[in-house]
Amino acid sequence: MLRETSNSAPVSSVPALHFSQHSRRAADQAISYLMQQGVENPDCISLAAGLVDEKTLPVQLTKAAVDRVLRDPESGRTALQYGTTPGPEHLRRTFRSWLAELEGHSNGLNNLPLDQIVLTTGSQQLLLLITQALFNPGDLCLVAAPTYFVFLGVLEAAGAKAIPVKSDENGMCPVDLERQLKAIESRGELDRVKLVYTVSYYDNPSGVSISEDRRPRLLDLVKTWSRNHRILLLEDAAYRELHYDGPKYPSIWSFDTDREFVILASTFSKSFSPGVRVGMGVLPKELVKPVCDLKGNEDFGSAHLNQNVVAEVIRSGDYRRHVDSVQTGYRVKRDAMVTAARDFFSDIPGVTWVEPNGGMYVWMTLPAGVETGFNSPLFRYAAQKEKVMYVPGELCYPSDWHDRPRSQMRLSFGVQQADGVREGMLRLSRAVRHILG
Ligand SMILES: Cc1ncc(COP(=O)(O)O)c(C=O)c1O
Repeated sequence: MLRETSNSAPVSSVPALHFSQHSRRAADQAISYLMQQGVENPDCISLAAGLVDEKTLPVQLTKAAVDRVLRDPESGRTALQYGTTPGPEHLRRTFRSWLAELEGHSNGLNNLPLDQIVLTTGSQQLLLLITQALFNPGDLCLVAAPTYFVFLGVLEAAGAKAIPVKSDENGMCPVDLERQLKAIESRGELDRVKLVYTVSYYDNPSGVSISEDRRPRLLDLVKTWSRNHRILLLEDAAYRELHYDGPKYPSIWSFDTDREFVILASTFSKSFSPGVRVGMGVLPKELVKPVCDLKGNEDFGSAHLNQNVVAEVIRSGDYRRHVDSVQTGYRVKRDAMVTAARDFFSDIPGVTWVEPNGGMYVWMTLPAGVETGFNSPLFRYAAQKEKVMYVPGELCYPSDWHDRPRSQMRLSFGVQQADGVREGMLRLSRAVRHILG
């Protein structure tokens, strides 16, 4: 019920809701705004959306797998029942064999205890649970600059502070990680550092992978600086299987032979289907219980049927064949975006971009002074006049970092087909030229 005040603004007579600090810290996320923009501007070519290519989604394969899972009524009923908080052991064994293949372990990683594996609702849930398990307000997380902006939102909601670490064409710079750790120590805050977070393959947003030599160096630094308490390294390998060319690197996790320092976050969203939303974490032993306790409160186990379906496609070999075809499809679109960047942007002075060997993103830097944020003339002109959208690069840096770069864009070749990618890049180049005058 509404009543009118003296200045006639309608005011509800229902008492106001008082929200938690956590919810207020989580407010106004860029991801929701971007999704909304996409819905409100259906005529736009979106180079913003990080959604997977519709054409890659395995309808027939999933249908057949569901059919096999449900064929036998008894095992079918089991799959339709709740599972367990970390996922049933026999399924985790199948997921471990998948990881063993990726890691090149012929013994099936038998020496990795199954109780260090937790199946989650996408890897996003794992990122959230780890944050909840480790961070108190005011604690610190070192992140590559730029980094996955949704994780920055998770940290912010937890009241944690993200500290940017320089990242170049070889990923997070160990020298800069050490510099930041020294600076934190000199402020007397080392005991507040809980985590180093890095997307190790074809980073979202920068497209770069951490080079092979840097992988053990980052791990060594985390170990060296774990003086009074353990600092963990969260390796987010979301795009690992979207590999198109160039070398294949071992995971950072593989260098952590005692499995005490690295959390490996994997997902089947990009390589198979985000609709089934199955993720997997490999955790240091001590972290398993706190994460499962939190997960117990949240859902006491992710969708059991979906876990069974993914396990079934892994076992049947359909998954491997599917990933091969997904890679082929994305490679064509990556090539389309890189070619369009060369064709339409090469002659604009001061524009540079990263040409990725995998993943879904091309990271483009415009001349200093050409801002790309939601309120910038470029974003508005691109969306309203040229009907093309991108993710403003500044979202991918800690929001309280005053000097963060503001002239970058994350361009995704995920959703569009090759001709849409090219047309989107052409429109974007026109928008940039317009702004530069
Ligand atoms: C770097 C990165 N990590 C994690 C995720 C989470 O994906 P999901 O929860 O679907 O596994 C995403 C999704 O876009 C991502 O880009």
